[in-house]
Amino acid sequence: STPSLLILPGDGIGPEVMAEVRRVIDWFGARRGLAFDVTEDLVGGAAWDVHGTPLTDATMEAAQGVDAVLLGAVGGPKYDDLDFSVKPERGLLRLRKEMDLFANLRPAQCFDALADFSSLKRDVVAGLDIMIVRELTSGVYFGEPRGIVTENNERVGINTQRYTESEIARVARSAFELARRRDNRVCSMEKANVMESGVLWRQVVTEVHAAEYPDVELSHMYADAGAMQLTRWPRQFDVIVTDNLFGDLLSDLAAMLTGSLGMLPSASLGAPMANGRPKALYEPVHGSAPDIAGQGKANPIACILSFAMALRYSFDQGAEADRLEGAVQAVLAQGLRTPDLMGPEGGTPVGTRGMGDAILA
Ligand code: NAI
Ligand code: MG
Repeated sequence: STPSLLILPGDGIGPEVMAEVRRVIDWFGARRGLAFDVTEDLVGGAAWDVHGTPLTDATMEAAQGVDAVLLGAVGGPKYDDLDFSVKPERGLLRLRKEMDLFANLRPAQCFDALADFSSLKRDVVAGLDIMIVRELTSGVYFGEPRGIVTENNERVGINTQRYTESEIARVARSAFELARRRDNRVCSMEKANVMESGVLWRQVVTEVHAAEYPDVELSHMYADAGAMQLTRWPRQFDVIVTDNLFGDLLSDLAAMLTGSLGMLPSASLGAPMANGRPKALYEPVHGSAPDIAGQGKANPIACILSFAMALRYSFDQGAEADRLEGAVQAVLAQGLRTPDLMGPEGGTPVGTRGMGDAILA
């Protein structure tokens, strides 16, 4: 049956960049015979404006029923004073929670034409293509007990790092599955030298590997050493799998290996559905960019590359994902630049639509 896609453009530049993705989707339908059953709905402030909630139950239900969700961005100054329970961000958090999206994927891919945007030297990052898989729903950000208590007449701040073996096993499986679609290598990062949860993490990843993925190459690294290696020689990695806290830091670090926020896609994956593909939500890393919203100059590439990830990981269309990423690479090589990509070496200035036109061409 026709693969289904729920599109939630959201707020600010969300609808602007998503409009370009819609054109890309239409192109695949018309030119590659790859049709999608697309529905579009409201999320975030846009949903609050109409329904008084950042995500209706109907939209939530629709998200549970499709092959993939593609989201633009939510939030903006108009909604800053809203009650916490109806803030735009709550719409996105509800999607992530109810779809149980426990694996957050952040690729760090260096497009040659932008290698000088990296915080590292060109020869260190050129050709870089790694994927960080961060556990997203457990660990020290959620563990109990937590809080600020008074002990011996002073305040104590408490958080607890806690991982069950099933939580570790499922995110490990996500990483191994991804590796099979990439360069077949996984590096697991923890601090088994000083943390009990790290010891268990290493054990469980090793067990899942031996039992289910012996064909994938597995290595282990302490997360602090991993941070060093990511800046020293990032191309040694293919897929990195790590916990929520280390993944938060390492994925932000890896993001800056490749440059602009307007270039960074992401995916959040859950358990496999009946068709064997994981539940999935794809979104650019950036937010609603109220400072440039409505001006037609947002970079649509992060959102377009998020759709490329959907092609690859939800729709089994790796070759078509390559085609789309190749088009992005080509227009960058031609020198086309939205304002956020305009560096000292200059380039041909384009807006959101112009960038979309060039990628389609
Ligand atoms: P932001 O990512 O929206 O913007 C940060 C800076 O990067 C701004 O100067 C913006 O103009 C620029 N930028 C971001 N995306 C760009 C693009 N595609 N092309 C060109 N320039 C781009 O983060 P900020 O300003 O902290 O947050 C703005 C709003 O977005 C807030 O309401 C925040 O809560 C929300 N937000 C939503 C996220 C989401 O929907 N997942 C993630 C981050 C923030
Ligand atoms: Mg972060």
